[in-house]
Amino acid sequence: MSSGTDDGGDAEVVRDQFDPDDGVLVADHLTKRFGGLIAVDDLSFAVEEQEILGFIGPNGAGKSTTFNCITGRYPPTEGTVYYRGEDVTGSTAYDMVNKGLARTFQEFRPFRDRTVLANLQTALVPDELFSTSGLLGKTRSQAIDLCERVGLGDDLYRTPEELPHAGMLRLEIGRAMATDPDLMLVDEPFAGLAEGEIGHLSDLLNELRDEGTTLVVVDHNMRGLLNLIDRAIVINFGSKIAEGTPEEIRNDPVVQEAYLGADDE
Ligand SMILES: Nc1ncnc2c1ncn2[C@@H]1O[C@H](COP(=O)(O)OP(=O)(O)OP(=O)(O)O)[C@@H](O)[C@H]1O
Ligand SMILES: [Mg+2]
Repeated sequence: MSSGTDDGGDAEVVRDQFDPDDGVLVADHLTKRFGGLIAVDDLSFAVEEQEILGFIGPNGAGKSTTFNCITGRYPPTEGTVYYRGEDVTGSTAYDMVNKGLARTFQEFRPFRDRTVLANLQTALVPDELFSTSGLLGKTRSQAIDLCERVGLGDDLYRTPEELPHAGMLRLEIGRAMATDPDLMLVDEPFAGLAEGEIGHLSDLLNELRDEGTTLVVVDHNMRGLLNLIDRAIVINFGSKIAEGTPEEIRNDPVVQEAYLGADDE
């Protein structure tokens, strides 16, 4: 990888060049436009095997759109996505899950009329098999294990709306874990959580990493996120403005400037 700053009067934007094998996941010159709006602007980064990478930026910076372009929700307008060295640009969400990539959604919607257990059973079984086979029964014990893994072992028969907010976030992480991913993109796991709950959820994400999962985590709670991650990249207006260790990010004046007035705690 080589990196340098743009000398076209936009000196804060970091420009990088990556090879397909530079990480588990590589985004190379990714751009996403919605009409005249450039949500992701020539963004390049690599995610290393088994790291927890923080993906930071103010509201509207383009974090979720980057996730959407990587996970097959939207095709990027320009640029390339590599997963384990393979060009997967424009693959469907279904294909990306099968390749080992899962994500959580910021605006997730569990099945409200199914229990926690049934929600995770459903996530374990592909839709087309759900109604026609006995697979649902076979997945019951797997789903119970998964509930226990994410700290919902005492809530198997509650509906999602009977859960406290932290439980809902755990359920969404469980749903993503159901496909047994190698790489998980986690969008705002700490939203609305108290400090103690952030610690518990961080423990879960750390356990996943220790078992071999690579994680990319977006969150606005800077303290919680910087305590969790190994490394961060920071974007603003769809472009990378900083990259480094939590300590470097904490002390970076460019990052502080981007966050001035933002709700980062
Ligand atoms: N489907 C869409 N159609 C049009 N504009 C969109 C769409 N999705 C996102 N945008 C716009 O793209 C920009 C980036 O949005 P995005 O959701 O990626 O930001 P974000 O960094 O995830 O913000 P937040 O921290 O608030 O979740 C915003 O201006 C947003 O309004
Ligand atoms: Mg978002």
